[in-house]
Amino acid sequence: MLTEIKKFSSESANQAADILKKGGIVAIPTETVYGLAANALDENAVKSIFAAKGRPQDNPLIVHISNFDMLKPLVTEIPKLARQLAERFWPGPLTMIFDKSDIVPVETSGGLSTVAVRMPANDAARDIIEKCGFPLAAPSANSSGKPSPTAARYVYEDMNGKIPLIIDGGTCRIGVESTVICFKDDKIRILRPGGVTAQMLGEYAEVEIDKAVETAPKSGEKVLSPGMKYKHYSPKANVYIVNAKGEDFALFCSKKMSENALFLSCGEREGFTDYGETSKIQAQRLFSLLRKADEMGAETVYVEMPSKEGIGLAVYNRLLRAAGFKVIEPHRD
Ligand code: TXA
Ligand code: MG
Repeated sequence: MLTEIKKFSSESANQAADILKKGGIVAIPTETVYGLAANALDENAVKSIFAAKGRPQDNPLIVHISNFDMLKPLVTEIPKLARQLAERFWPGPLTMIFDKSDIVPVETSGGLSTVAVRMPANDAARDIIEKCGFPLAAPSANSSGKPSPTAARYVYEDMNGKIPLIIDGGTCRIGVESTVICFKDDKIRILRPGGVTAQMLGEYAEVEIDKAVETAPKSGEKVLSPGMKYKHYSPKANVYIVNAKGEDFALFCSKKMSENALFLSCGEREGFTDYGETSKIQAQRLFSLLRKADEMGAETVYVEMPSKEGIGLAVYNRLLRAAGFKVIEPHRD
């Protein structure tokens, strides 16, 4: 199959909607990462997403809507808290989990009785959903296990020959996937951290951070967000988080300079690759730098410990998974 990349325009959006209406899949930009979209209510269309990504069947998809009215038929109930959060954070990088209605196929929900829904802030994404008139299931548009794509060319790397069309909306503004939350006893539980932070949500209710955000699941353990149990976001290179900052990190790396490695520092430092001084910039750059490691043929990536504040928790969460939870504790000799 020939894979076209087209800049977002009303013409390319019409072409995307035509493909989607026929049950096909199209990669679309969002403010977080690119998504691999198909009709969320068409089980066969959804199955082709799993095939293109090589994604495990039990990992549910997020359903994307373009206006609040689209939520009602997908769920059995909209809690008051969810309504308040939608008013404040939609459109935006917040995914909420609801009990699903019967129109959501089990293929979309990964066999669960719940459905994850978000309204993206990206105009191209919402325009395409609006033109379709049905919600779009859209996981990140990478091959399963690879870093999520933050630009159209990265989608092409993974999906060339597998999908007919990539809508190019430029580089993703946020760079890491949406915050995924569920509700429990009037509390908000963060299953996956993202651009809407614990602090922001804390203005509305008590917030708990699920233990899977920062720790590796034990084998066989049931996890609330199935995606969190898989190794993820990984380049071919071996990634290590180094639990050190500034001079301590530089000293650790100075002993590794002979290795074929990429060294990612928080801020500019001679001989290092800067992955950003602030958490916001780190989130924007992280996935493209992990892909760069492979482009360079690096065998190893050593990453300076990021701050876990705000969107920093999302950066740390993605890094932990890219590293397969390998954190080095360096000790000064
Ligand atoms: O920012 C995003 O959310 C991007 C863009 C494209 O919108 N999408 C995305 O989708 O990251 P995906 O499929 O790569 O990640 C979805 C995550 C997975 O960790 C999945 O397990 C979780 O959401 N999830 C989906 N439905 C769920 C449900 N019903 N219960 C618990 N977790 C769910
Ligand atoms: Mg993903």
